[in-house]
Amino acid sequence: MLVIIKENYDAMSNEAAQIVADRLRRKPNLVLGLATGTTPLGMYKVLIRLHKQEGLDFSKVTTFNLDEYVGLPPTHEQSYRYFMNVNLFNHINIPERNIYVLDGMADDIDAHCDWFEQEIAKAGGVDVQILGIGANGHIAFNEPGSSLGSRTRVKTLTDTTRWDNARFFEKKGEVPKYALTMGVGSIMDAKELLLLSSGKEKADAIKAAAEGPITAQVPASVIQLHRKAYVIVDKEAASKLSSSYPGTWRSSFTLEL
Ligand code: F6R
Repeated sequence: MLVIIKENYDAMSNEAAQIVADRLRRKPNLVLGLATGTTPLGMYKVLIRLHKQEGLDFSKVTTFNLDEYVGLPPTHEQSYRYFMNVNLFNHINIPERNIYVLDGMADDIDAHCDWFEQEIAKAGGVDVQILGIGANGHIAFNEPGSSLGSRTRVKTLTDTTRWDNARFFEKKGEVPKYALTMGVGSIMDAKELLLLSSGKEKADAIKAAAEGPITAQVPASVIQLHRKAYVIVDKEAASKLSSSYPGTWRSSFTLEL
């Protein structure tokens, strides 16, 4: 695991985007795992800028999103598919056929989740997986207690997560109770993991994920077992870490995991 501590949110976002851009320049048909939420927004902005100003090419990229709410169609403003269109896909040259987001309206949820896993396998697996972290230590919608070997499936959202996400909805009651999510095991299959986090409200979760025991009670802690996991955080999210990390000077392209 490589913990990279940056000065602030913008520096964290830039660092993550530069790593993704580097991998994309080396492998034009990169398979990217994507997250929604507030955390990766800055990184998406930098990637869009690199596309527009430096011609970073997404024409051969395939993407798989981590999760989607059950019951929201892709046209719903709070669906993750809609979020991805507005914040990334509409601004880069990725072909529609290369975009995979779970369908929260699928009739046969189990078959749909199996299909999603098969498409990831057909694409050769995820090369770089972007992750945020919940204040309760979740990754994707793998809430505390999720099996560390889990695959894509339906999960019930905890009240903490529904409260955290209520800020995007008019009323908390409108936050869906269920979501489709890649499993912890599916995430761990990615060749590289980039876990991003900023702000003091995430400091406990980052401490537990990076320095705590590996436990299903903190699904993010499993990344300690991954061979190439980067934890890219701002100073506030890093504020409860007790080990000393190299900090801001280290090049993210040096692999000392
Ligand atoms: C979203 C996702 C979630 C978020 C997490 C943090 O696709 O998988 O696990 O990454 O809830 O959300 P933010 O970034 O809004 O704090």
